[in-house]
Amino acid sequence: MSVDNSPQSIKVREAISNMGFYNPPLENRDPEEYMLMDFNEPPLPPPPEVVEKITELLKNRIHAYPIYGDFLEKLGEYVGVPTENLLLTNGSDQGIDVILRCLLENGDEVKMAQPGFPMFRQIAGTLGCPIDGPKFPADFRFPHEELKASVNEKTRLIVVINPNNPTGSAVSLEQIEDLLKSFPNLPVLVDEAYYEFSGQTCVSLLSSYPNLIVIRTFSKALGMPSLRLGYVVARPDFIMHLQKIRGPYDVNVVAVFAAREQLKHPAHWQGIVKHLLEESKPALEKFFDEHGVKYYSNQTNFMLVEPQDPVAACEFLKENNILVRPMGPPISHTFRMSLRMLPDMQRFMEVYSRFLKT
Ligand SMILES: Cc1ncc(COP(=O)(O)O)c(C=O)c1O
Repeated sequence: MSVDNSPQSIKVREAISNMGFYNPPLENRDPEEYMLMDFNEPPLPPPPEVVEKITELLKNRIHAYPIYGDFLEKLGEYVGVPTENLLLTNGSDQGIDVILRCLLENGDEVKMAQPGFPMFRQIAGTLGCPIDGPKFPADFRFPHEELKASVNEKTRLIVVINPNNPTGSAVSLEQIEDLLKSFPNLPVLVDEAYYEFSGQTCVSLLSSYPNLIVIRTFSKALGMPSLRLGYVVARPDFIMHLQKIRGPYDVNVVAVFAAREQLKHPAHWQGIVKHLLEESKPALEKFFDEHGVKYYSNQTNFMLVEPQDPVAACEFLKENNILVRPMGPPISHTFRMSLRMLPDMQRFMEVYSRFLKT
């Protein structure tokens, strides 16, 4: 039997053919060659005991579908909600995916301050839904009133990233409550990917506002981005609808096993959070202050920096084996860098001070 390989393409949905790619610069990110400060990743792996236990688990669990045991109870204790308020997802990216698929019809609009985490636009795009909203002002303060004013009759969802990636902007509990109260018929999705760094959460508002949805991740402070684990916190009726969309085994057993260990022994990752916020961040800010480099302070594991020539800065760092993330419009005058442990920060500062002399 012969196969016709003539170039006829499969017709895909219009929303998909019309959209572009989300292409984070993943290629050539070799940790042997570069110090990676470009993806807001944790600076260290989980403790060796956890890695050893994972290795043990792999010996006899790969050939069975995942069993999650009482993990949801453990997670509920960590978050401070009953299990029926929780849904595990394959990274918080999948949380965004199932929530948007649950809420949006083709042509519905999503409002989010710009720029925000690109996966929101990507996933909304697959559904034929535009996502826009007010731009962060020059000082990157959250444009609360402007966001409210942008809501119109086509708006079906408001997204708030707190603290925002990439600007680091914080949103107060009062501002979130104001959005929930002002738009009782609109879901407000709050992305708390950096919660463990900011210490700020709006989960307590769930008891008063059924339109609140929160997503979080184990990829940042909890140290396991490659295992892909996130979760949604919402009212039980909404969680039940999401369960219809997420596959029953989309979350892998290794991720849940590792997450359980991380929650059981928080000293390691909490120590890293403390180190980044109390050692690495002040040292970097002091360095930038002393050298007249503009930056935007925030409560996350990354920093937005505004050099005089961002392209030259990123290139110089790369030539010296340090990867940071150049930002696109409307903030192409900045680059984003992740915080790492102090010795790595010192290496960054040494290279950057050489750049400033060029
Ligand atoms: C604000 C925000 N939300 C969600 C994510 C996705 O995280 P993950 O899918 O790894 O849980 C990220 C990752 O950088 C992020 O910055």
